[in-house]
Amino acid sequence: MANNVYRPIRADLLEVKPETPTIKTFRIAPDEPIAFRAGQFVQLTVPGVGEAPFTPSSSPSVQEEMAITVLRTGTVTDVLHQMEDGAELGLRGPFGKGYPTEKMQGHNLVVVGGGVGLAPLRSLLHHVFEHPEDYGRVAICYGARNPSELLYKDSFADWVSDQVSFDVTVDVPDETWDGKVGVVTNLLEDFDFDIEKCYVVSCGPLIMLRFVALTCLNVGFKPEQIYLSMNRKMSCGFGKCGRCNIGPLYLCKDGPDVCYDEIKDYKDAFSV
Ligand SMILES: Cc1cc2nc3c(=O)[nH]c(=O)nc-3n(C[C@H](O)[C@H](O)[C@H](O)COP(=O)(O)OP(=O)(O)OC[C@H]3O[C@@H](n4cnc5c(N)ncnc54)[C@H](O)[C@@H]3O)c2cc1C
Ligand code: FES
Repeated sequence: MANNVYRPIRADLLEVKPETPTIKTFRIAPDEPIAFRAGQFVQLTVPGVGEAPFTPSSSPSVQEEMAITVLRTGTVTDVLHQMEDGAELGLRGPFGKGYPTEKMQGHNLVVVGGGVGLAPLRSLLHHVFEHPEDYGRVAICYGARNPSELLYKDSFADWVSDQVSFDVTVDVPDETWDGKVGVVTNLLEDFDFDIEKCYVVSCGPLIMLRFVALTCLNVGFKPEQIYLSMNRKMSCGFGKCGRCNIGPLYLCKDGPDVCYDEIKDYKDAFSV
């Protein structure tokens, strides 16, 4: 990280890949390599506009460049979505702890993504695919509002193996869709492996995370087996501004991926 933690590292936008009508993946090369763990996030600066937090969707084993998959939603992301290859950006970070991959070694994983929430999880999946011997079975469960909003469609087939299963559902089908219909939590009721030796990792809208946690408890997981990416609003990224607390936790430095056991008793845990 740079000495002045507020100063972004200059970065080049190498490639922009449209994923869905509202989501694009940006391949970015910082002037200095940024080493990050799966689940850690960066603050991305769009010069003259502002900065916003994003979790890289690329492999943590590559430090010279990173991919960030971004839903267009407001000031920074609107301008970012209009940018083209060769544009100048800034990056600061990484921030947060990232997923507890050491703790997860030797366990089965249930990876639950909703909408653009599959993006941060893709970084964890890259890590797991690069270290298959460290993990047991992996069940990827993915849900989106409709088929046109599914991310990384070209990769789904490559992810599946003897070790990895992939299940997908949409809330609202269209004429192209002959798969499952319904909310992503419907995919969480039946696993053909031991859920006692298993962690659940989920990223998506806060309301979805709440129901993922409740459904997992119903099917027999314990709160300490459930990790949720609490991507609420953040500003400084390192515990100074007080924008991101749940109880005593600073999501920017203690998270953003936190164990459900640590937040379940706070009433405002799932408010924006
Ligand atoms: C740790 C972390 C990781 C994230 N990773 C990703 C990612 O990989 N891909 C991605 O697309 N987005 C991600 N986000 C969300 C992203 O930071 C926001 O969408 C972004 O800040 C919006 O900036 P903006 O200036 O375009 O929108 P603004 O103009 O600031 O806001 C537009 C609208 O979006 C709402 N909004 C802004 N930020 C958030 C937020 N964090 N959660 C919910 N609603 C919000 C505002 O309330 C407003 O309604 C992440 C957020 C955090 C905290
Ligand atoms: S984002 Fe500033 S304290 Fe967490």
